[in-house]
Amino acid sequence: MVETIEERAAPGKLASRGTGSATLQPLPSVSPEGQQRINVPIAEFNRVLGGGLVPGSLVLIGGDPGIGKSTLILQAAGVLGDAQHPVVYVSAEESAHQIKLRADRLQVRGDNILLLSETNLDVILGSIDSITPALVVIDSIQTVMLDEISSAAGSVSQVRECTSRLLQWAKPRNIPVFVIGHVTKEGTIAGPRVLEHIVDAVLYLEGERFHQYRILRAVKNRFGSTDEVGVFEMADVGLREIENPSEAFLEERALIAAGSTVAVTMEGTRPILVEVQALATPTAFGLPRRSANGLDTSRLQLLVAVLQKRVGLGLGTHDVYANVVGGLRIHEPAVDLPVAIAIASSIREIPVNRTVAMIGEIGLSGELRSVNQLDRRINEAARLGFTRVIVPKGGGAKIDRSQAIEIVRCANVSEAIEAALG
Ligand code: TYD
Ligand code: MG
Repeated sequence: MVETIEERAAPGKLASRGTGSATLQPLPSVSPEGQQRINVPIAEFNRVLGGGLVPGSLVLIGGDPGIGKSTLILQAAGVLGDAQHPVVYVSAEESAHQIKLRADRLQVRGDNILLLSETNLDVILGSIDSITPALVVIDSIQTVMLDEISSAAGSVSQVRECTSRLLQWAKPRNIPVFVIGHVTKEGTIAGPRVLEHIVDAVLYLEGERFHQYRILRAVKNRFGSTDEVGVFEMADVGLREIENPSEAFLEERALIAAGSTVAVTMEGTRPILVEVQALATPTAFGLPRRSANGLDTSRLQLLVAVLQKRVGLGLGTHDVYANVVGGLRIHEPAVDLPVAIAIASSIREIPVNRTVAMIGEIGLSGELRSVNQLDRRINEAARLGFTRVIVPKGGGAKIDRSQAIEIVRCANVSEAIEAALG
């Protein structure tokens, strides 16, 4: 049961039912000129927003607690607005003192930032109505509340009504609002998911809390593509942009190790090379375990089944662990082949050459299926000095002549394992 605010019809409204009128506008007569976007000087962030922040838009930034949402937004706040049009940072979660400490750490001077420590949303909106802020930040939506609703802050009804109130406030004033929302394992219901349909854009900041990399991903964007990701690194002075994610993800690769392969995954329009690791060890007791980090566990189970049945690997008596290095989560099937070869490499104890990358989706009969944007992936591998790439037979890729890379086309997973492990 979710509490909602009862809408009181304005006097006279009922009587006029069906008699009102509004102007209809033919589509071609609508001016195509969009609003001027606000350029966020953090390039990775700007790209995920779709090339700038649209005035009047409500942007939800979700993520696990402690992942760096407040850090990212404070960094953005530090470079937006000016003294006339300040950024209003409403923090119901932390004291002004804590924010000041963080700002010092991030080297954000903050001449353009006004802080507000308040939880009552009506009071918040009332206090900022007299100024024209360049941007309003609500940190976080789970801590603000409306008096009309009796349930606690953070409940579904509070979170939802507060967000629609913010929307009603922001749209006519053309002021963008960043709403920070925590996603928690237990509290996903009251978290940002219930807001996804209300807001204009939903960005998630992901990553492993104890890894340095953070990925900013758009899952909804009314003003841009949801394909783009921004890659950051959490440093002692806040989030640092990673312009060359592949190099960063491959940096710590061991010289020779069985069970390690390099995958080329597309994150939006950008190819990113990552290391995929697998470990197959004899099961000590009971059912063999299949555990995946950064990959879908059911996909791993499927790949193990294909390797057992189509390649004849004896995985029925082995636990299989698979891991994407650096905290990236890969959802696309192009990583199937690197995972399968990493498993084969681990169980056979044969390392894959360091300069080999691989791409391909695996079907249930063990066939390799082509993936999208193969040429861009191959080019990126070549650019990073890989000398050989194993790809599916189908799908012709045009390769830049200036870059030397041997392309090995395989029809099925057995051939690919042969090509990789010799
Ligand atoms: P924070 O932005 O407070 O997370 P959220 O708002 O998503 O809950 O950041 C949390 C973590 O980031 C904190 O554990 C410490 C780390 N951190 C750094 O490593 N470097 C920094 O410069 C800052 C500000 C935070
Ligand atoms: Mg925070």
